[in-house]
Amino acid sequence: MIDFDRLPDRRGTCASKWMVGDNELPMWVADMDFPAAPPVMEALRKRLEHGIFGYDEIPDEWYDAYSGWWDKRHDFKLRKEGLIFCTGVIPAISSAVRKLTTPGEKVLIQTPVYNIFFNSIRNNGCTALESPLAFDGEGYGMDLERLEKDMSDPQVSLMLLCNPQNPSGRIWSRDELAEVGRLAKKYGVTVISDEIHCDITRPGKNYTPYISVSQECRDTGIACIAPTKAFNIAGIHTAAVYSENEFLRHKMWRALNTDEAAEPNSFACVAAIAAFTQGAEWLDEMCAYVFENRRIAEDYIKAELPQIKTIASDATYLMWMKMPEADMQKPIREKTGLYLSDGRIYGRGGEWFLRMNLACSRKMLMEGLKRLSEFFN
Ligand SMILES: Cc1ncc(COP(=O)(O)O)c(C=O)c1O
Repeated sequence: MIDFDRLPDRRGTCASKWMVGDNELPMWVADMDFPAAPPVMEALRKRLEHGIFGYDEIPDEWYDAYSGWWDKRHDFKLRKEGLIFCTGVIPAISSAVRKLTTPGEKVLIQTPVYNIFFNSIRNNGCTALESPLAFDGEGYGMDLERLEKDMSDPQVSLMLLCNPQNPSGRIWSRDELAEVGRLAKKYGVTVISDEIHCDITRPGKNYTPYISVSQECRDTGIACIAPTKAFNIAGIHTAAVYSENEFLRHKMWRALNTDEAAEPNSFACVAAIAAFTQGAEWLDEMCAYVFENRRIAEDYIKAELPQIKTIASDATYLMWMKMPEADMQKPIREKTGLYLSDGRIYGRGGEWFLRMNLACSRKMLMEGLKRLSEFFN
């Protein structure tokens, strides 16, 4: 059993999340306060002790580790020739926007969604076409009528899909994904499916890889996958893109190489191989801990803070909450030191929401909830 209650102090380690005032409690950026899985640490230690950090190639074990994991965990066979190493999901998405669009075009995103999608789009001369998700007061679905209207815009040639969804934690259904694939095929849109959160799911639940759903999804899809969110190794910069469409794969391979985002550092493959071949037990314990944190937070808020509505979710360690008023991030931070992510950054529909990162010790979770309660009471 891993002890997720006793965690190292991250202050003073250059951790972005913890670059905050002494009295502040950071529950914002999406990384976890948990040390990496023991087998990952051991593999990294071994690589470090070798002591030579020259240029590396991608070994066969890297391909086998990804395909073995997706086969076992997600019942989907990744073909070796479809996989390309890259240094991160956002580097891959930014490269894809540069390669697959022309400046001035629109890139479709379903908002509210991971804020950095906006940067990848705008930094490369395109505009974000916000196709709002449907919110019924309890949770999110796809507004498929609206999606068709937006996909059919001739200025749209690329869509960024977030599967599972950040910030809502929604796992898209096979039917919803099939409809995305059908529309993408019909209107000639390429779909980048960002699946970085796919391994952080409620025990007993699984996600559906976009490319696994239909031939239309395979024809239109490029998946971005990585061990970095689930195993808390984002700082190691290790990810992959996968496509079964030969033309799109060639484009992505050229894009990543042109942008020099296809070369591994000395730890990138080692960490991914260890995580995907030996990390299952740690991951299952981590997910159980995080989903218990979610239960505690939801129960606490229901009992103590009924003016807040938490959105139920089966994926990610992020809790999306509808507040009684818009724009509450700043006053909560100023008054209590609790630092949450402001829903506004995720685009239209996020104004009344805050996002809380639950991947912390239970003690820290309780402190965060106490501060939230102090703010209102
Ligand atoms: C949906 C999503 N995609 C991508 C990333 C970042 O990916 P990377 O660190 O591989 O660039 C994040 C990080 O929070 C994320 O939530």
